[in-house]
Amino acid sequence: MPRPNYTIFEDKNHLSEEAAHGIMVQAGLAEAYERPFRIALAGGSTPELLYRLLSSRERRNDYGMNWKNIQVFFGDERCVPPDAPESNYRMVKESLLANLDADNMPQVFRMEGESDPEEGAKRYEETLRKEFGIGVGEIPRFDLILLGMGEDGHTASLFPHKASLKETDRLVIAAEPGLKPFVPRLTLTFPVLNNAVQVLFLVAGEDKATTVKLVFDGESLPDELPSQTVKPLSGTLMWLLDKTAASQLQQNRSGFRL
Ligand code: 6PG
Repeated sequence: MPRPNYTIFEDKNHLSEEAAHGIMVQAGLAEAYERPFRIALAGGSTPELLYRLLSSRERRNDYGMNWKNIQVFFGDERCVPPDAPESNYRMVKESLLANLDADNMPQVFRMEGESDPEEGAKRYEETLRKEFGIGVGEIPRFDLILLGMGEDGHTASLFPHKASLKETDRLVIAAEPGLKPFVPRLTLTFPVLNNAVQVLFLVAGEDKATTVKLVFDGESLPDELPSQTVKPLSGTLMWLLDKTAASQLQQNRSGFRL
């Protein structure tokens, strides 16, 4: 299986700067074409630095984004209240939304982690259909989906050996966790991830190195390594890795940025 496109960075700072720059460019293009920029954010801890960069006052000149033209969605959420420490929404609120000016805010479509998981999944699916103007059977096409990868090879909340990996009809489902926090999840499904214009994986840390090697160079084992299933049908996929996460990839094929 050929490796996906990837770029290796010296550290998470450089990786986040590159991601921020790419998002700024894509968001600017959407605005130039007078259409909203629809992004699905990753949860977990890796993207926090990126969100801080994108919204920091000090970097306004570098990444001054017109957030009013941006619709922010979530790739997944933990089924906890929005102010709980495990909430992806809370992480995005603190690292991104809290730094923006009141007159430059995006539309934010939160997954309702506080609701009954099945109810929350259904409501988010309705939100996607409404905001993307699609009917039943159609799949929303995000401009950009940010994803992380767990040590077990999961992405969003699509964990190894779980039924959620087989979902092909629904856009959003309640999913069983496979790693901490062991709480029920809400997650976009693979058909949505693979319908995006662009998917960007952000992976950093030595603890991911073995899994990156397996995902990139190992056998195709989508049930064991769900991240292998992310292959946009008519879009681009790019993995941004820091040096430690890429440390088991012998030769660097894609770009190598220090
Ligand atoms: C979540 C995320 C999940 C995350 C990976 C990596 O809700 O946990 O969406 O898919 O991206 O687990 O998490 P870290 O960035 O914390 O390593």
